[in-house]
Amino acid sequence: MAAMNMSEEQKARVSGMMKTWERRKKISGRLDQIKNRVAVYSGKGGVGKTTVAVNFAAYLASQGASVGILDADIDCPNADKVLGVNRRPEYNDGTLIPAERAGVKIVSMAYFQEDEEEAIIWRGPMITNALNQFLEITEWGELDYLIVDMPPGTSDAPLTVMQILQLTGFVVVTTPQRLAGLDAKRSINMVRKMNIPILGIAENMSGGVFGTGGGEDLAKEMNAPFLGALSVSAAYMDETQLPSLHDTNIRDEYGTLSEKTVKQLEKLQTESN
Ligand SMILES: Nc1ncnc2c1ncn2[C@@H]1O[C@H](COP(=O)(O)OP(=O)(O)OP(=O)(O)O)[C@@H](O)[C@H]1O
Ligand SMILES: [Mg+2]
Repeated sequence: MAAMNMSEEQKARVSGMMKTWERRKKISGRLDQIKNRVAVYSGKGGVGKTTVAVNFAAYLASQGASVGILDADIDCPNADKVLGVNRRPEYNDGTLIPAERAGVKIVSMAYFQEDEEEAIIWRGPMITNALNQFLEITEWGELDYLIVDMPPGTSDAPLTVMQILQLTGFVVVTTPQRLAGLDAKRSINMVRKMNIPILGIAENMSGGVFGTGGGEDLAKEMNAPFLGALSVSAAYMDETQLPSLHDTNIRDEYGTLSEKTVKQLEKLQTESN
């Protein structure tokens, strides 16, 4: 009887291992179709991660790249709103087909929320499960870039996301103020501890009352490339348009950001060959 139990137990364990292996294989297969997985990250909330992630993605797509956004900000997923997508992805036969606008495909953690206003407080294992499931079932197709809108800070949530996504590198967003720089430093150190490259630092909300220069100073101090300044602008208040496509100045700023980021990605690629 005991032997029988053992063997049932063993069978269950083997079957569990097979399932995990199958899942990993499926996820690797999906991730292999994506050339670059670039996370947009900051130490502090509200510095413009989502704005930068979405406008950066839209700019890259406007230049002919195939681009997706994964909104991995579990606590406050809103990248689909900023992109201006109000449809959910299609779920067909076990596959999730991302919604799309301006040539950018998007899948958001918001789709796990029943009620939009509901706060999400997820522990690490639940985030792991949800993200794995996303990666397993989402049909991105071939992508040049998957831009990941990260949760802010250095807590459980961003760590879990970093571990699962096998990220190529990070674009760190900061604002001109010194306090934002301090938080950004902390997050850069965390990324480096995880051995993921920092592609560079962008200074958002640059100019006007916030001043300018904090991002470039931080880049020098942290020995990271400076990806450029993104001006504070009223154009971001118009929810119907994407400023990186429709505002001449902002388009130029995103042109610089994209050019510098792509250069870093190419450098990484050459180094790894
Ligand atoms: N360069 C800018 N000029 C003017 N407003 C901006 C700029 N960048 C972002 N904003 C505005 O600032 C607010 C916060 O931006 P956003 O939601 O992108 O920040 P976030 O870092 O993603 O925040 P969270 O940590 O909550 O996810 C938004 O209302 C956005 O429109
Ligand atoms: Mg955000």
